[in-house]
This record gives sequence, C-alpha cells and structure tokens, in this order.
Amino acid sequence: MVRYSKLPFRELVRGYNVDLVYTPMILADVFAASDYARHSDFSTNVVDDPLVIQFAAKNGKDLADAAELAFPYVGGVDLNCGCPQKWAIQEKIGSHLMTQPDLVRDMIRHVKARTPSLDMSIKIRIHPDLRETHEFVKRAEMAGVDYITVHGRTRKQKSAETVNLDAIRFVKEVAMVPVVANGDVFSASDAEEIQRVTGVDGVMAARGLLQNPALFAGYEHTPWDAVEKYVRYALGYGTNQFIFHHHLMYMLETQMSKAEQKTFNILTSTPAILDHLERNWGFNA
Ligand SMILES: Cc1cc2nc3c(=O)[nH]c(=O)nc-3n(C[C@H](O)[C@H](O)[C@H](O)COP(=O)(O)O)c2cc1C
Repeated sequence: MVRYSKLPFRELVRGYNVDLVYTPMILADVFAASDYARHSDFSTNVVDDPLVIQFAAKNGKDLADAAELAFPYVGGVDLNCGCPQKWAIQEKIGSHLMTQPDLVRDMIRHVKARTPSLDMSIKIRIHPDLRETHEFVKRAEMAGVDYITVHGRTRKQKSAETVNLDAIRFVKEVAMVPVVANGDVFSASDAEEIQRVTGVDGVMAARGLLQNPALFAGYEHTPWDAVEKYVRYALGYGTNQFIFHHHLMYMLETQMSKAEQKTFNILTSTPAILDHLERNWGFNA
C-alpha cells in the first residue's frame, strides 16, 4: 500500500498471521535509476521475509532492471496492473496495463529471463468482458508468471462498489497458476468466505489491515497490543510523522468516539501523539 506497507507495518502484520507481505508500489524506472530513491523507497531486514516488492512499470527493461537490483532482498516481484489513479493512467502504468496484455506478457518475460529464480506475479483488475481477462491471464501464464492476484473490480469501479466474486472465481477456474483474491476483506470470516466462494489459493487485504492489522489472527478490532507494537516498531525504525499518525488514526478509528477522533487527528507532532496515547490510553513508552 502506497505510503503504508513499509517495514514497521510489515513487521506488525507478520506477527498476526499474515503469510506474505508487499512493499508499497514503487516506480521501477526511478528505483533502477537512483540510489537515493532506492534508499528512501525501500528498506528491509532479515525478519522481513517472505517479501514481495511491487513495481509500477511501462516497459520490460525498467522492470527487469529494478527486479535485478531488488533480487538479493526479496522473494518476489509483483507488477501493478491495478492502480486506477489518473496520474498512473497518464503515465501508462497501473490499470492502464489491463489494456496492454502483450506488453505485460513481454514485461514478465523480461523479468523471468533476467532473474529466473525470483517469483514474478501480477496484480490485476477484471475487464467488463471477462473473455478479455481470460486472454490476459493466458498471455501472462505463457510468459511464466508464477501467480496472479485479482482485485475483483474493473478499472473504472470505485472501492465502494461490491467486489465481484464471480469474476474472481472465473479467473481461478481458467488459471493454471495459483490465484489470490483481493477486495473487501475486513475480517477473518470475510477471508474464509471469499476463499470458499471463489476457491482461490490465497486472500489479500488492504484497507481491512490498515483498520485492523490483527485481522488475519481473528481479531474483530485492533487489539491494544498491536497499537503498542506499531508505535515501538515505527519509532525504532524511524517513520515519518504523517504515516505514523495516519496508521494510528486507522487502527484506533473504531475505538474512538467522534470527539476523541477530532482531538487525536489534529495532533501535529510525534511527541504530542505519544503524550496523547500515554494520557488517554495508558501507553507506556
Ligand atoms: C492506502 C492504500 C494504498 C494502496 N496502495 C496500493 C499499492 O501500492 N499497490 C496496489 O497494488 N494496490 C494498492 N492499493 C489497492 C489495494 O491493494 C486493494 O486492491 C484495494 O484497496 C481493494 O482491496 P481492499 O478491499 O482489501 O482494500 C491501495 C489501497 C489503499 C487503500
């Protein structure tokens, strides 16, 4: 998740039954070109494993260059074919790639040729006409993709619209490689139900984990233990204040009254946030 799935949050969710963790989407060309960008966009450590680095790219060379540089630190590289934001479409990355099956096939081939032992996955959306999705999946498979994550919405659908589980089941039925379902997982029972209905091999959550990093361990809301752990990891590894604050806002949202949220959300520094947690929540630094 852009801005959010950085090292401290990844370590946090690994402690709550998450099997596979992804970096935020990183621009492959910038990652490949700049040592500074690599250091600011990506940090990891020995316990951050297994880890998938997700890239946005528009050609095979950029993607393979970036994958090669990431290779010593990750188990897999994922190509984002789902980002619906305007700037991404203009840059011809993200969900724009759902209209470019041949290009995606070539990009997968580039990575598999350069770093054959690295798992190569794609995260896709569905097409309004599922025959196109079928074609897309087959091309990716021919190029050697190792697994596919399907966000069950078209590139024009907003996340408020219900995820299309029939479409995910369709992809699972036609694909030879493992399929991971994505969309609307907010609890462990959602994950189980999606797995049951679609038959997929795995389930991915984004917003649900922001709200409750312990979701896959069966918790209904963020346990206090997770908040304390997050604060320790974030301060220990160093996290910018905006991200630190926003993670805590998400995690505590369902546990704070509207008035409390108002007070918490306007805090402007890390010491003020810690002070608030100490006074109101008994946080012990
Ligand atoms: C804050 C935020 C950041 C996201 N960043 C990424 C990203 O970097 N790469 C990606 O493939 N999807 C990203 N997504 C989309 C999610 O991976 C996911 O496809 C979408 O939110 C639907 O799943 P959900 O219902 O579990 O949230 C992001 C979503 C959110 C809310």
